[in-house]
Amino acid sequence: MAALNVWIVGTLAALSLSLFLLLKIRRRREGEPPIENGWIPYIGCALEFGANPLKFLQIRQKKYGDAFTCKIAGNFITFITDPFSYSSVIRHGKNLDFQTIALKISRRFTTFIIWFYIIYRSQEALKAVKNEIENLLCVTNQKPGDINNPIIFTREQLDSMTAMGSLINESLRLSSASIMLRVATEDFVLTLDGGAKLAIRKGDQIGLYPQQLHFDPDIYEDPLVFKYDRFMDENGREKTTFYKNGRKLKYYLMPFGSGTSMCPGRYFAINEIKQFLALLLCYYDMELLDASAPIPLLDNSRVGFGILQPSHDIQFCYRLK
Ligand code: HEM
Ligand SMILES: *[C@@H]1O[C@H](CO)[C@@H](O)[C@H](O)[C@H]1NC(C)=O
Repeated sequence: MAALNVWIVGTLAALSLSLFLLLKIRRRREGEPPIENGWIPYIGCALEFGANPLKFLQIRQKKYGDAFTCKIAGNFITFITDPFSYSSVIRHGKNLDFQTIALKISRRFTTFIIWFYIIYRSQEALKAVKNEIENLLCVTNQKPGDINNPIIFTREQLDSMTAMGSLINESLRLSSASIMLRVATEDFVLTLDGGAKLAIRKGDQIGLYPQQLHFDPDIYEDPLVFKYDRFMDENGREKTTFYKNGRKLKYYLMPFGSGTSMCPGRYFAINEIKQFLALLLCYYDMELLDASAPIPLLDNSRVGFGILQPSHDIQFCYRLK
């Protein structure tokens, strides 16, 4: 009898659990984007998304178009993958609350990736940056020789270093991977760039994943290749015109997010990296210990948390000049 009771209770529990899980599977309603619930209850697409968000989103974009909803760890996230529609999300302050999943301070790794790239991957970039520093030293009448009288660059002088700025932005383009999420505070209709209207439910999230933009071959030729001068025009000035399908993009580089939640430390971060690089190149000779070592891959396990880190350390020697 006792055994039967246990059996009945167990069956009931299992039944109500499956009913609960069944109910958590969402059906698409009129006007809503296509939905993918994933195979696993609750978790949904989280595992596949977490393993490689870029690939996950690229496959869905091919299948569904520029907007689709995925269940990820109990949340329903509508991804907008068309960069021309980014502004619909970023400017839509009224119905969307921002929520950040980004590592706040990621400078250390960024700095590492940047100098690593210049000394290791591109002698040309190193030369351009060294030139820029030398010009600035000349203009400001400073010499790095005297350690008691260290070189000082003002913010305006750091701002004027376009080659270094471009190189830093190129490193950020290749290594940033944070996801921007906004929570819908009520049911509303989101109008995309092409005029398509999407019904969004209260409590759902809208997700932008700028890495997809950063690796788009329509926007950046050979997107996986590091080109230090990508963000410079032929006159050596900052380049701000990037195109997709022949149309100029408002958003082409978003390592710091955008809109109300955009990183307030971005100018500080970039100036600090510039200062660090300038001092490093002025005062030290550096060399990789093993110049033929393969380039470390970026560690994808930290995706969604700001800047990707190299998968392992690289040894180098340095000497005061
Ligand atoms: C290269 C270095 C850095 C990168 C790539 C970076 C990236 C980001 C990103 C992606 C966000 C979220 C933006 C969004 O969701 O729209 C963010 C937010 C934030 N960052 Fe940074 N950041 C960097 C350096 C810094 C520094 C140096 C500081 C402070 C001195 C800082 C302070 C913050 C704060 C306070 C927020 C939260 C802003 C908010 O929620 O309103 N960050 N950062
Ligand atoms: C690099 O990006 C920052 C913001 O992300 C921007 O303010 C700066 O002007 C850019 N510099 C260059 C040279 O592209």
